[in-house]
Amino acid sequence: MNGILYFSSTGNSLYIAKRLQERIGGEIYYIPKYQRDGSEFEKLFLVTPVYSYGMPSHVYDLLPRLNKSKEIIIIQNYGGMSGGADYLIYLYALKCGLNIASVYKMQMPENYTLTFTVPQFYLKGILKKADGRIDAIIDKIQNRNYEIPRKRAVKEAKYLKNKSDWHLIARDFSTNGDCIKCGKCAAVCPTQNISVSRDGVVFSDKCVACLGCYHRCPQKAIIYKNKLKKDRYVNPNIDEEQIGKDILK
Ligand SMILES: Cc1cc2nc3c(=O)[nH]c(=O)nc-3n(C[C@H](O)[C@H](O)[C@H](O)COP(=O)(O)O)c2cc1C
Repeated sequence: MNGILYFSSTGNSLYIAKRLQERIGGEIYYIPKYQRDGSEFEKLFLVTPVYSYGMPSHVYDLLPRLNKSKEIIIIQNYGGMSGGADYLIYLYALKCGLNIASVYKMQMPENYTLTFTVPQFYLKGILKKADGRIDAIIDKIQNRNYEIPRKRAVKEAKYLKNKSDWHLIARDFSTNGDCIKCGKCAAVCPTQNISVSRDGVVFSDKCVACLGCYHRCPQKAIIYKNKLKKDRYVNPNIDEEQIGKDILK
């Protein structure tokens, strides 16, 4: 049985994980809730977005505790420019003593859109190409056409600095008058960083900048730096309620 471990806040990585499950089988687990080390699986697949040319905090924390003898295949997805993220995760995994067979990467729609808007035609174009890109990766996996990222100057120090600053982003989140205090933001947050009461929504200091609350608020009531931006993104080809869930089939 394959283990497919994923992190996702807006569904792109979950979409890839589900396609992987459809074609090669396995159980899907959401990384923030996954406490084991992968020993129960024959092979491990890690599906993760790129954050700041690196990896989300939860993926960074997961790697050192994974079983060192299991074959691991990583699929990264990124919004626009992944820099040396594939090489960075590969080096970090090696440092953790892991058995990395392959690292693939592919583009998906950008979700780091706090300060700009992705034009709809561009977003649709990327979504249209997504299945072909995922399937090309799965074909490579099935043919054991494995890829090790080419060596590059990796800006590990810069990535670590960004990672250590992510929690600061929550200082610039607030809610506007459209907030109905439904509690969804708190429910989707992977770090329990948000509390909702009759008095309002409070963002604490454990934010990992995944932007799940920002994008998935049904009222678009979470705003960044008091901007009036109204565009939000969730992968339209998945059931949003499945983001953050395990899918065992
Ligand atoms: C904090 C943060 C940092 C990001 N950094 C990058 C980046 O360095 N390069 C890039 O191309 N995309 C970046 N992205 C975009 C995501 O990698 C991309 O949209 C991904 O598909 C989101 O996956 P998800 O829907 O599974 O969460 C970033 C997103 C977030 C939230």
